[in-house]
Amino acid sequence: MENKNIKLNEDIVLDHDLLKGPRHLSFDEKRILANRVMKKHGVGGVTLHWVNAMSWFLLIFTGAALLSASYLQFAPTWYINMMDGIFGTRGAMLHFHIAIGVFWVTTLLLYGIFGYKNYLLDFVKHDLTIDKDDIRWFPAKAKNLAGKLNHYEMPPQGTYNAGQKAYAVVVAFSTIILMITGPIMAFHIGSTTIIQWSMMLHFVATMSVFAGVFVHVYMAALFPEERPAFFSMITGKVNELYAYFHHYKWWTEIKNEEHAFFAEELKKDGIDLPALHDCKNIANHQVNSKVYDMSGDEL
Ligand code: HEM
Repeated sequence: MENKNIKLNEDIVLDHDLLKGPRHLSFDEKRILANRVMKKHGVGGVTLHWVNAMSWFLLIFTGAALLSASYLQFAPTWYINMMDGIFGTRGAMLHFHIAIGVFWVTTLLLYGIFGYKNYLLDFVKHDLTIDKDDIRWFPAKAKNLAGKLNHYEMPPQGTYNAGQKAYAVVVAFSTIILMITGPIMAFHIGSTTIIQWSMMLHFVATMSVFAGVFVHVYMAALFPEERPAFFSMITGKVNELYAYFHHYKWWTEIKNEEHAFFAEELKKDGIDLPALHDCKNIANHQVNSKVYDMSGDEL
């Protein structure tokens, strides 16, 4: 019982204090947050991301070699020859490209239809909406990368930062364009004009995603600061220290949810948890009739 109180207090006192706003953390506070984890992505989201990424790479590798119009060709001749060698004929390569495209569109449609409420709507409404902190994020990130701004001085971010949101919006719009133009081209739907316009739009949409994918992969997989985000796309989880510094608004949302659930459970044991935003002087707050200081020791 004693241990439960001490742990309860250490966690709660720290959370309450950090919910007042992002700030510099002491060594002990960092240690506490680094040892906690938060769920960021569900199995559905992780699976969709990697199926989408794999499909994109296969489609871009084959699509680049399939571009026959000289004014659109951007892949070097040696690459096109290599791909011709792998597939034997252009026809086989085109069939492979279309098969992957059909698989990709089907996966996205299944996700959109069956995951509309739980995944898609939440992603669009909650994760992609832009606010003024997102607009302030771009110049702040430039200063941060130049070493002139600390983590805790950055505009607080939600589940995704403004850069990630911008890329996700480009990917979402391009995906819609590709899902329409792909079948038109593959199955010759409509007039020659419609097919020609589709080819142009297909190219522009692909290029906008392709241009950003290098930054996305660098920021997601290679940039040391974002390493926890990369592993979150495998395990689904991030440590709280990363969440606190990089996605403060999302961190506060999860904390509020945790707090509400915890308060409800403790009520059954007759313990009243102080409401999060009512805490004026949290260091002296009473938990379970005992007073603790910030280190979690009973005073
Ligand atoms: C090796 C390739 C890739 C890696 C390592 C990678 C990694 C990641 C990671 C770690 C996240 C989660 C970020 C976070 O939770 O903070 C993410 C999100 C996302 N990825 Fe990827 N990704 C790759 C390829 C792609 C491709 C090809 C696309 C689209 C064409 C894509 C689209 C997205 C989108 C839309 C999100 C959600 C929001 C965002 O971060 O923009 N990813 N990716």
